Order: sequence, then structure tokens, then C-alpha cells
Amino acid sequence: MTRTILVTGGAGYIGSHTTLVLLQAGFQVVVLDSLCNASAESLKRVAQLAGREPVFVQGDIRDRALLDQLLAHHPVQAVMHFAGLKAVGESVAQPLRYYENNVGGTINLCQAMAAAGVFTLVFSSSATVYGDPATVPITEDQPVGQTTNPYGRSKFMVEQVLGDLAVADARWRVALLRYFNPVGAHESGLMGEDPNGIPNNLLPYITQVAVGKLPELAVFGNDYPTPDGTGVRDYIHVLDLAEGHLCALKALQTRTGAHVWNLGTGQGYSVLEMVRAFEAASGRPVPYRISPRRSGDIANCYADPTKARKELGWGAQRGLPDMMRDAWRWQSMNPNGYSGGRN
Ligand code: NAD
Ligand code: UD1
Repeated sequence: MTRTILVTGGAGYIGSHTTLVLLQAGFQVVVLDSLCNASAESLKRVAQLAGREPVFVQGDIRDRALLDQLLAHHPVQAVMHFAGLKAVGESVAQPLRYYENNVGGTINLCQAMAAAGVFTLVFSSSATVYGDPATVPITEDQPVGQTTNPYGRSKFMVEQVLGDLAVADARWRVALLRYFNPVGAHESGLMGEDPNGIPNNLLPYITQVAVGKLPELAVFGNDYPTPDGTGVRDYIHVLDLAEGHLCALKALQTRTGAHVWNLGTGQGYSVLEMVRAFEAASGRPVPYRISPRRSGDIANCYADPTKARKELGWGAQRGLPDMMRDAWRWQSMNPNGYSGGRN
């Protein structure tokens, strides 16, 4: 049984919720995070909720000496690899930084893992690798690689690298988890998403409008081929996503090679449905204005989660009202996020 897990990017949004779920399931957790897009306060909240602390190492996945030292000092049996940069617009402006961090960082991590004899890796991929899908719901065997920006390409490249690695060396056990749209927060209101600056993603934008930090939501296009003309996505509660990682880790105990699983609910919601669901859950109005389409956006993107259900025994348990309630509780209890922790 795997007991000690290295979680890279464990102070971030998805990594911190997964660290909590791992601790609650009895694992030892070592978090490696540079805090380039997170605050150590998230890990204090994790400790508060779990009743025990993860080990925290502040550092970079590109630092090979640090990785070697960390893996020598802790009996790590598997790695959950969340560390990465994720802002699409920024990736267009700074492609080398994104490729160096996301692709180069992952290669460095794998080299250090192999040298330490650790061959089990759960990787945060994204539905962005499907590009603009020919059909929905999206199954894992649909074509990948038609990505529209360096961020998306960095995820696609890492999938290729990890696939090649698993072919070359049968000791590797790799899960490529393609997340759809993670939203929501821990139900306590103590942990959630703390975007840097003005949010790019829909739900944090909605919650910041509702709390009065932003004046109105710009709805990016209402002329898409969707039921109400606004973009449709598969929003998944971050705790369902976190639990999917534990199921993937368990599945790797009986599988070698690289395996792809979609982590989505299978249900698509439009932007306007999201606005209405949020208003119903929070009792707050969300003023919005129909605006031009955002460059690079697609009409429809939602998962066929059958493979994860069959092979991982995992399915999302939380519905849209839960996602909205928890996102709102987090935002209203922490209007400035993990304030003060980020510089
Ligand atoms: P996040 O920014 O909150 O978390 C990423 C963490 O990695 C941050 O804490 C950051 O400080 C850390 N980090 C970045 N580069 C690092 C480095 N070189 N060394 C050490 N730490 C580093 O993002 P998140 O939303 O929690 O996403 C986690 C992972 O999931 C990312 O790889 C992201 O690309 C992927 N993903 C996210 C989404 C989403 O919508 N949030 C969707 C699909 C995939
Ligand atoms: C975006 C990223 C994608 C990433 C995903 C999850 C882009 C082009 N794509 O995708 O690479 O994997 O986030 O992190 O940035 N919307 C509005 N107004 C807003 C914000 C969003 O109308 O202020 C709409 C969008 O047009 C879309 C939906 O809301 O239809 C969801 O947007 P978002 O949360 O940014 O996620 P994705 O577009 O799926």
C-alpha cells in the first residue's frame, strides 16, 4: 500500500484540496510548491481541516538538486504532479516560460523520480488537449493535439513525453487525468480558489461580481451553436476532482503503462445557466452584459466520463447547486482569498 505521496503544486487550488483528501485518507503528504501562484496559508487551512500537517518544502520542480534531496529524505512512493503555470493569455505572451516550467519541469521531475526509483505518477492534464472537439460528449479516444495556445500545447507535450516514457520503461505507472472545468471549494469555506488579479475563469469572475469586487460579468458571445447561444462546459466540483486522484492512484497499483482518464461530470452547462444557478444558490444578483466572443473559445466541451467510472470506480457526486454554494461560501467568507500570503 502506497503511504507517502509527493504533491507538486500542493499549495495551489486543486493540489491543496487533493492534499486534504490524501491526509484524510491516511496518507503522508510532502508538498513541493514554489508559491509562485499560491500562498502557504492554503496549507495551514489544510492542516486545520485534516488535524495534521503535510510536510511543506518551498521550492521549484526545475531544481534537480532539491528534488534529489527531497526524494532521499522522504519515502515517497508516488507523485501527484499539479505544479504548472495555467494562464492561457500569459502563455501566448511568454511561451518559453510556459514550456520551460510545464514541460521542462516535468522532465526534470521524472528524471529525479527515476533516479530515486519512484515510478508512479498522476499528472494534471486538461480537456484543452482535445482542442475544438468534433463531437460531444468527449471520449478519451478522440483526437488530441489541435490545441490553440502554448499552455494547451504544454499539456499535450507532457502527455506525449509521459506516454513515451511508459513505453520505454515498463516500471512506469502513469495516470494522465484530463480535467474538465474545476470549480467550487471545500464545504467549510476555509479553502477555495484564489486567483491572482482579475479572474480569467467564469465562476471566480461571477463570485467576485456577486461580492462587489467587479461591476458586471462579460458573457463572451451568445451566438454559439448551443441551446441559449452561450458556451457550454463541464464544471466539476474540486473535491470530486480530488477524489478522482485517489481513485487513479489506486488503479495504478494494478496497471503499468500510461493511462488516460477524463475527469468530468458528463453534464454541460451554459454560461447563462451558470449565472442563474449561482443567483439561486447565493441569493445575489449577477449583472451581466453580452460581449464579443473571447478569442480561442469553443462552443461545447463536456466529458464522457464512462471510462473513469468503469476503470476507476469514480464518478462525480456533487451537483451544480453544491458547486455554487461552496464557491459562494468561500468567496463571502474570504473576500480577499488567502489574503496577505502572496507577494
Ligand atoms: P494553481 O496555480 O492554483 O496551482 C499550481 C501550483 O503550482 C501553484 O501553487 C504554484 O505556486 C505551483 N507551481 C507552479 N510552477 C511551479 C514550479 N515550477 N515548481 C513548484 N511549484 C510550482 O493551479 P490549479 O488550478 O490548482 O491547477 C493545478 C494543475 O492542474 C495545473 O497543472 C493546471 O495546469 C492543471 N489544470 C487546471 C485546470 C483549472 O481549471 N484549474 C484545468 C485543467 C488542468
Ligand atoms: C479556459 C481555458 C482553458 C483551460 C480552462 C480551465 C481559455 C481560452 N481557455 O477554458 O485552456 O483549460 O479555462 O482552466 O482561456 N466566460 C464568460 N465570461 C468570463 C469568463 C468566461 O462568458 O468572464 C465563458 C467562456 O466563454 C466559456 C465559459 O464561460 O464559455 C467558461 O470559461 P472558462 O472558465 O474560462 O473556461 P474554458 O473556456 O473552458
